[in-house]
Amino acid sequence: MTEPLLSIDDLTVRYPRRRGEPVTALDGVSLTVGHGRTVGLVGESGSGKSTLGKAILGLVPVGGGSITFDGRDITRAGRRERRELSSQIQVVFQDPYGSLNPVKPIGRTLGEPLRVQRILDARARRDRVVEALERVGLPAAVLDRYPAEFSGGQRQRIAIARALVMRPRLIVCDEPVSALDLSLQAQILNLFNELRADLGVAYLFISHDLGVVRYLADDLVVLYHGSVVESGATQPVYERPRADYTKRLIAAIPQTTPQEKAPSCKSES
Ligand SMILES: Nc1ncnc2c1ncn2[C@@H]1O[C@H](COP(=O)(O)OP(=O)(O)OP(=O)(O)O)[C@@H](O)[C@H]1O
Ligand SMILES: [Mg+2]
Repeated sequence: MTEPLLSIDDLTVRYPRRRGEPVTALDGVSLTVGHGRTVGLVGESGSGKSTLGKAILGLVPVGGGSITFDGRDITRAGRRERRELSSQIQVVFQDPYGSLNPVKPIGRTLGEPLRVQRILDARARRDRVVEALERVGLPAAVLDRYPAEFSGGQRQRIAIARALVMRPRLIVCDEPVSALDLSLQAQILNLFNELRADLGVAYLFISHDLGVVRYLADDLVVLYHGSVVESGATQPVYERPRADYTKRLIAAIPQTTPQEKAPSCKSES
C-alpha cells in the first residue's frame, strides 16, 4: 500500500489560558488524507476543525501526537522547513477579503510567494499567476486590480488561485464557501472538484455543514469536542451514521443544498 499524503496520529492541541487550565481543542485525533483525495472534516462550532487545519499549517503548537506529510514528520517543523512546505501545503480560508491584502493589486499578492522564494524570474512568475487565475476562471486583466473591485465569489476564486500558484499537493480549505450564498457555493464547490480532477490535488475540506462536504469528500471525519466520533467513506457514513452526533449533523443539513440549487453553472456576475 502506498503511504498517505498526510497522516495525523493521536494529535493533541491545547490553548493556554491566562487563568486556569488550558483549553483542549484537539484530543487524540487521527486521520489520513490519500494522494489526490478529499477528506471532509465536519463538526459544530468549537469542535476543533480550524485548530486541526492550523496544526497542519504549523500555526498552533502541537501538544502531543504527530503530523506526517509525504513520509516526513512535520509536527514541529521549523521556520525554514515551513517555508519549503508552503509550496506543497496551501490554505483557503472562509473570508477572502480578510486574507487578500486590500492595498496590493491581485497580481502582486499572488506572485508574492514565488518572489519570496525566488523560484522564478518576473516573467515566469507572471505566467504562473495568470495560469492559476485562468484555472479558476478569471482573465489576466485581474492582475492589476484590487480585492475591493471584486464580488465575494470572485474574491474566493482569487484566494483559490493564490493557493494554486505554488502548485501544492494538499490544500486545507477552512469553510471556503460558508460566507457565500447558495448558488455561489455550488459554483465554487464545482470549481474545487474540477481542480482536483485536473491537478490531482488533495483537500482537507473543513465545514460545519455536512451537506456541503458530502458532494466533495471521499471520506468524512466527524469531530465533536476535539475528538473524532466517526469516520469513513462518505456515502456509508452519510447513509448509515453510527454516532448520534453524526445523525444530528445530518438532520441539521439545510433543506436546499447548494448543488440542488444550481447544478453545474460555471459563471457568475
Ligand atoms: N487562539 C485560541 N485561544 C484559546 N482558545 C482557542 C483559540 N482558538 C480556538 N480556541 C478554542 O479551541 C476550541 C476549538 O476551536 P476551533 O476554532 O478549532 O473550532 P472550529 O471547529 O473551527 O469552530 P468554528 O466552526 O466556529 O470555526 C474552541 O473551544 C475554541 O474556543
Ligand atoms: Mg473554524
